Amino acid sequence: MSEIERVDLALGQRSYQILVGSGLIERAGQELGAVLTTKRCFVVTDETVAPRYLPALARALDGAEIGHHALVVPPGEHSKSFGQLQALLDDMLELEPERGTAIIALGGGVVGDLAGFAAATLLRGVPFVQIPTTLLAQVDSSVGGKTGINTTQGKNLVGAFHQPKLVVSDVDTLDSLPRRQLLAGYAELVKHALLGDRELFDWLAKNGAAALGGDKAALSYAVRRSCEMKAEIVSQDEREGGKRALLNLGHTFGHALETAAGYGETLLHGEAVAIGMCMAFDLSASLGLCAAAEAAQVRRHLDDIGLPTRVPTPASGRWEPRQLLATIGHDKKVRDGRPTYILVRGIGAAFATQDIAPDAVETLLAEALAA
Ligand code: NAD
Ligand code: GLY
Repeated sequence: MSEIERVDLALGQRSYQILVGSGLIERAGQELGAVLTTKRCFVVTDETVAPRYLPALARALDGAEIGHHALVVPPGEHSKSFGQLQALLDDMLELEPERGTAIIALGGGVVGDLAGFAAATLLRGVPFVQIPTTLLAQVDSSVGGKTGINTTQGKNLVGAFHQPKLVVSDVDTLDSLPRRQLLAGYAELVKHALLGDRELFDWLAKNGAAALGGDKAALSYAVRRSCEMKAEIVSQDEREGGKRALLNLGHTFGHALETAAGYGETLLHGEAVAIGMCMAFDLSASLGLCAAAEAAQVRRHLDDIGLPTRVPTPASGRWEPRQLLATIGHDKKVRDGRPTYILVRGIGAAFATQDIAPDAVETLLAEALAA
């Protein structure tokens, strides 16, 4: 049986552990029993994940004598809605929860964000546990306590910070994840390296393909290192008053591309982040902040691994630079009307700035859209 790797996220009384390894769901009963205040929980999952991993979780909970009731939502971004949240809370309230009744999210970032927001609001807050089953959720969304839903005005505009009591990242669940989803999660992993860990980037450049190709030890190592990176940032800046903004590397451009693409299959979030990170490096290089060779190195690794690194041309024709610039201007990270850009001085050295002339961004967008 493989070792369980443990990452501590230090947040005073709300501190918790992130467990990473193989075969963890089967072994989760004891760990869950140790953090839950009462022996009852609701498991929120989706229709794709439920048949694959709910039986193993149910066995683990039975073994620890934790009562459980599963609530299964449709897969996909549409489940992060007011309607689905209401249906979920209604179902939970019918089951007469107590303050100690825990909510366990078993699934990707959609299930985690939705179930986490339900946990933040049910009876004004109940214990929450994340069991992420996508790479994106294991390296990013399950860690740090951001929960929420989408509205007609945009993504993640309604939500709450609600930290989990425990995160259980079983890398075996990634065996059934479609390759495209795996790569989209890998983009967020690379993001953590690019913003503050040159050594991790060098490791990924050498071992990333093996980690994605079935080397479980390499994959566990990468997930663990990525979680350590995020845990360190979140413990210093839980509410994104400063350093946590660095986690948005690639997101300012990425969100503009996702909005233009309509948040669907055309461009997955991680794919948009991969392109957005290349754009952030290109902008940094064009402003003389970072060596062009570093930007080229980042693009080469993402290309090699199979992620998109250039803005795609949609069937409806090219997007306009001004259209993307306008979207950036409406980003939720805008302060006093000025967008926040995460730029770099090199691989592993990101910083946030609002001091970027719109002309420089428009030129970059024009070049990126023409490439
Ligand atoms: P997702 O949850 O939609 O999962 C992607 C697809 O994979 C779904 O169809 C799902 O059913 C399926 N799936 C999940 N696990 C599987 C498995 N093991 N095997 C086979 N199929 C599986 O998408 P995601 O990429 O995990 O998460 C995206 C969401 O995460 C977005 O809503 C985004 O806003 C959010 N997010 C949140 C944070 C945060 O800090 N809270 C950070 C980044 C992203
Ligand atoms: N995914 C960005 C954050 O958690 O802050």
